[in-house]
Amino acid sequence: MIEFQNKLEKNSQEIDRFLDNYLPSGNGLNSKLFEAMRYSSISVGKKIRAYLVLESGRFLSSINNEILSDSKYNELVAVASVIEAIHSYSLIHDDLPAMDNSPVRRGKASNHIKFDHHTAILAGDGLLSWAFQIIGDNSFISNAKKRSEICFVLAKAIGPNGMVGGQQADMDFTEHDSINLDQIEWIQNHKTGALISCCSHVASILLNASDNQKSNLINYANHIGLAFQIADDLLDLDGDEFYMGKPTRQDTKNETPNFVTILGKEKATQKALEASRKAISLIQKFKQESENLVSLAKYTVNRSK
Ligand code: IPE
Ligand code: IPE
Ligand code: MG
Ligand code: MG
Ligand code: MG
Repeated sequence: MIEFQNKLEKNSQEIDRFLDNYLPSGNGLNSKLFEAMRYSSISVGKKIRAYLVLESGRFLSSINNEILSDSKYNELVAVASVIEAIHSYSLIHDDLPAMDNSPVRRGKASNHIKFDHHTAILAGDGLLSWAFQIIGDNSFISNAKKRSEICFVLAKAIGPNGMVGGQQADMDFTEHDSINLDQIEWIQNHKTGALISCCSHVASILLNASDNQKSNLINYANHIGLAFQIADDLLDLDGDEFYMGKPTRQDTKNETPNFVTILGKEKATQKALEASRKAISLIQKFKQESENLVSLAKYTVNRSK
């Protein structure tokens, strides 16, 4: 676990470097916006989505007996950074009073508390649009067809039929509504799963994965996404606020239905473990090459933050 966390940390530094180099900065009239975008994305968060992009790329190049060239690796870093920027945007908005109303995120004041509400809304918008600016820039991804494919896949994953659609449903239902397990899975799949599976998808595009490799890896990521959200719901109930860097019992306070409210702690835990095991079974036949992705699947359910 410590070894895995070191690897996660090393990859995070790579992403932080990219964000620091390429997110806008300066002293113009919009400098507060730049500061807010940087505040919520650089040197914060576990960056597991970026890890999944980079490790999917490493995995694909090694099972295809290819050397991961520096230029390919840099493309993976650009796309991984963009996905983390999008994830940060989603959390800034998720914490707003109109949504989960959470004052603390990643061990510090949430964006709207540190700055103000309009800045938090705009910082989210800024991160989202910056992300697509980078994807469209041929100095980061050289192949035009891949730029356009990644743009399509990413926009679809986070749009009305993906993450944003999931957030809408998450907000619209409370524990008092008769919501069933299928509907909770639908919400999870959209609000959290879509962006996580997109991580393996974009790496498959960059690394020219075969259809079979791509669908296996996306399937792996789907199980990771499910396990990840159940673990988040369990931590919301029983986690350590200080270690997690965000308040616990947010779902209870907001009466948000989740896997734990529907299934109870024990069954929810079993379901997360089962999803993690299914993820591992999809990639384990490539023993040596899949080591880091197997560690990610284990970390997803054993994490305490
Ligand atoms: C939190 O995601 C929101 C969910 C989708 C469960 P993470 O647990 O990856 O948050 P950070 O990026 O590490 O802060
Ligand atoms: C957030 O889910 C999902 C997105 C922001 C897309 P949660 O509301 O459960 O995340 P936390 O618990 O605030 O991190
Ligand atoms: Mg939420
Ligand atoms: Mg929340
Ligand atoms: Mg949560």
